[in-house]
Amino acid sequence: MGINLGNQSPADLPMKVRLPEPEASGRSRIEELITKRRSVRRYKDKKLSESVISRLLWAAQGISSENGLRTSPSAGALYPLEIHLVTGGGGELEPGVYRYVPEDHTLVREILGDMRERLSKAALSQPMIRNAPVSIVISAVYARITSRYGNRGLRYTHMEAGHAAQNIYLLGVELGIGTCAIGAFEDEEVKDVLKLPANQDPLYILPLGYM
Ligand SMILES: Cc1cc2nc3c(=O)[nH]c(=O)nc-3n(C[C@H](O)[C@H](O)[C@H](O)COP(=O)(O)O)c2cc1C
Repeated sequence: MGINLGNQSPADLPMKVRLPEPEASGRSRIEELITKRRSVRRYKDKKLSESVISRLLWAAQGISSENGLRTSPSAGALYPLEIHLVTGGGGELEPGVYRYVPEDHTLVREILGDMRERLSKAALSQPMIRNAPVSIVISAVYARITSRYGNRGLRYTHMEAGHAAQNIYLLGVELGIGTCAIGAFEDEEVKDVLKLPANQDPLYILPLGYM
């Protein structure tokens, strides 16, 4: 007697397929970067230059096409994210909080002064924010996307923040710069420290420093 399959045909049964091994050699650069990517929580005492900061911000949300499309995918190309740079200074930029403007790849200073200690406190005192020379903060303006997609726009925004953060992680590996995606913080405190408008909600803090 064979096994009783009921209504199932053998073709419906779960079957394990052994995949070819991801080759250790002959891999593309992007696969190398993906392999090496880790969350890094300790950084060297070395500032990031303006040109390095420029590249990291561009990787997160920069313009990468002639018609204004950006480095991270965005549902409906509505771009609900805002990017801020929090720097302790020491490089070319004065200590402060700067808003990244993708359209003309500029930074607008919104606060003068080193906010890293306060930002760290707002994030359960996680020390890497205090110790990193800079942090990138990714925030959401949900209305930009919920106006078209309703509540589903909320999840689209969170997905997009993940894409932007991963771009930062991967370029960081290439540049020898480590980061750690931080989601544990008090929203209202972070908003207060960065003086974010009422319609902007912080999603991620990414401290950045040389490994
Ligand atoms: C949504 C999210 C929130 C996170 N929040 C924190 C955090 O608040 N503090 C922290 O140290 N790491 C945080 N992490 C990093 C994870 O701990 C880390 O990705 C995980 O341990 C896997 O390690 P890896 O990134 O090196 O592969 C977060 C990661 C994600 C995806």
